[in-house]
Amino acid sequence: MSSMTTTHAPKGLEGIVATTSKICYIDGDGGVLAYRGIDIHELADHSNFEETCYLLWFGQLPTPSELQQLRERLAAERKLDPAIITLLRNAPRTAVPMEVLRTAVSALSFYDPDDKKNDHDANVAKAVRLTSQIAMIVAAYDRVRKGKPVVEPDRSLSHAANFLLLLNGERPSSTAERALDIALILHADHELNASTFAARVTAATLSDMHSAITSAIGALKGPLHGGANEAVFRILETIDRNGSDPVEHVKGMLAQKKKIPGFGHRVYHTEDPRATHLRGMSRDLGCSSGQPKWYEMSRKIEEFVKAAKRLNANVDFYSASTYHTLGIDEDLFTPVFAVSRISGWTAHVIEQLDDNRLIRPRADYVGPEYPNHYVPIGKR
Ligand SMILES: CC(C)(COP(=O)(O)OP(=O)(O)OC[C@H]1O[C@@H](n2cnc3c(N)ncnc32)[C@H](O)[C@@H]1OP(=O)(O)O)[C@@H](O)C(=O)NCCC(=O)NCCS
Repeated sequence: MSSMTTTHAPKGLEGIVATTSKICYIDGDGGVLAYRGIDIHELADHSNFEETCYLLWFGQLPTPSELQQLRERLAAERKLDPAIITLLRNAPRTAVPMEVLRTAVSALSFYDPDDKKNDHDANVAKAVRLTSQIAMIVAAYDRVRKGKPVVEPDRSLSHAANFLLLLNGERPSSTAERALDIALILHADHELNASTFAARVTAATLSDMHSAITSAIGALKGPLHGGANEAVFRILETIDRNGSDPVEHVKGMLAQKKKIPGFGHRVYHTEDPRATHLRGMSRDLGCSSGQPKWYEMSRKIEEFVKAAKRLNANVDFYSASTYHTLGIDEDLFTPVFAVSRISGWTAHVIEQLDDNRLIRPRADYVGPEYPNHYVPIGKR
């Protein structure tokens, strides 16, 4: 095969199909998102996070006994080596939770019993383990930085309920548990988004699961990707603190050519189907918790941005007010995204390694013309 490049990739690889995958179906024009062919709306209405994990990892819905077994495996993996808790305690005060999560997940490989294995079954075991451990790390770090004791996991609880217990030190209400459970389902996978692509690129070098997930967390952190939900809440907070009009605030941002976090999407040209659910959750939780202002502000901003810029709210816009109403701090919003997306990342790593080839694209060279000769330093 020729080593010459033959195509010119669009900026940001927009529209480029980079792999085949059986995991996630997206129709950007129709606003459809489906895991293994099952529409996200059906999953949000009827499924739960553990079942969604099974679907992503094993390719089909589980039987009752298969689901029970996975629940037991996830619950059994609710443990962290004491060295990881020490690492969390030693993180500098200036560290943000996403940095701590990235570093702690990298360190998890030291204590993983399957560390040196990269076969299918070992990677499924790592997927189960990482899903339980990431939730524990996010919650434990929040407790540690607030000077609160780390909470013992409850293996009888669902993944969502156990996470809220570890975070808040008390069992959540069934409303809060279900709200988080749905949010976890909605964020679980999204095809070749930036972090998943990063995970697949790393995995394809035959590196290891922990390296792939560390790459993914680094990519998720950015405000153009998972970091957007935190940026949304910072805007809502500023508007609330200053008593500003939400529309005027956003107009001011646009006048300064700033992007409004939580709006726009590379793939969806219509409403992001995940935003549909999160909008409803934000409204319902706002009402039931007596804090409807975050939803009301969000709604005004959404109406304005849609009319003025023809941009739709994405998954991050209403997850901000939803998570805040669940009592989650704003700098934990992106880590909570990771608590869910670990299921999709690991499913993609497993799929990549089941039929692997190194991912190594080419660049369209636009630098100085070749040959551009070396000039000795004294003659420059
Ligand atoms: C998601 C996102 C990164 C997609 O980016 P993209 O496909 O590269 O699209 P671009 O950034 O090139 O945007 C295309 C146009 O829409 C505008 N636009 C896109 N998102 C915008 C936003 N949130 N606010 C204001 N304008 C926006 C851009 O300014 C650009 O306008 P121009 O053509 O006049 O320069 C982008 O919409 C964005 O930055 N959104 C805010 C961050 C966010 O919510 N990220 C989470 C995604 S789930």
